[in-house]
Amino acid sequence: MADVELKRVSKRYVHGRRTTETLRDVSLHVRDGEFVSLLGRSGCGKTTLLRIVGGFVNADGGEVLVDGAPVSQPGSDRGMLFQHPMLFPWLTVLDNTLFGPRATGRNSPAARARAMELLQIVGLGGFEFHYPKQLSGGMMHRAAFARAMMAEPKILLMDEPFGALDALTRAGMQQFLLDLWNRRRFTVVLVTHDVEEAVLLSDRVAVMAAGPGQIVETIPIELPRPRTYEMSETPEFVQLKRRVRQSVEQTPARGAMVGMQLTAGG
Ligand SMILES: Nc1ncnc2c1ncn2[C@@H]1O[C@H](COP(=O)(O)OP(=O)(O)OP(=O)(O)O)[C@@H](O)[C@H]1O
Ligand SMILES: [Mg+2]
Repeated sequence: MADVELKRVSKRYVHGRRTTETLRDVSLHVRDGEFVSLLGRSGCGKTTLLRIVGGFVNADGGEVLVDGAPVSQPGSDRGMLFQHPMLFPWLTVLDNTLFGPRATGRNSPAARARAMELLQIVGLGGFEFHYPKQLSGGMMHRAAFARAMMAEPKILLMDEPFGALDALTRAGMQQFLLDLWNRRRFTVVLVTHDVEEAVLLSDRVAVMAAGPGQIVETIPIELPRPRTYEMSETPEFVQLKRRVRQSVEQTPARGAMVGMQLTAGG
């Protein structure tokens, strides 16, 4: 089981005398094996919410329960992919990927073979012995992705993991994630700016609005699975994309912040 329940979660940030109310009464239930995307304009609190689920940030109010138990710190049940990939700079790509198994005493030739295989899949074959500073931004994201998948977490929390990738690589990574999820059905919460990505991958899309951050609507994506890219041209897909995009567009823009990547044509 890997069920995530947010109950009236709130968060304020204090800067000097000013307080920003980042999240107010956010409730969301992500069922075991469900794939939910959080979509919303820049600054609406998506990263903050994901970090709270990951246990990296504490909420000021409300509760986060994983399988009914309150979350107060990170745990190996939840894999987290940060918006800015966090690799250990002193470790090679392979050693970064093997960090989890080593830390938990599960390092073995089989783990190493699995790490090599995952690095191939994410397109980093040949870069196993490179250090993070020798990689491009997109390659770092892919290495962080391989490391997170290595741990086989029950819950995968991803903060715009494919945002820095070119369209072709992104499509490959999305397909890889879909295939993996089809096989293992872990629980996923994905933060994205990309309406098409949210519709392609998710069972439900939670649309967030800023000032203070709230979930304004949760839209079920009732498209058949397994999903493939070809589906993105079907009328059902295009209609859902329009529906989700309109929901986000209706949320107020926050100050001069921009950042919604609204995919054209749909
Ligand atoms: N550590 C922090 N200290 C102070 N304020 C913060 C902190 N983290 C986030 N905030 C504020 O909380 C709000 C939401 O930030 P958050 O990063 O969660 O948004 P986001 O939806 O992930 O945006 P983006 O799409 O640009 O990544 C912003 O107003 C931001 O300034
Ligand atoms: Mg963010």
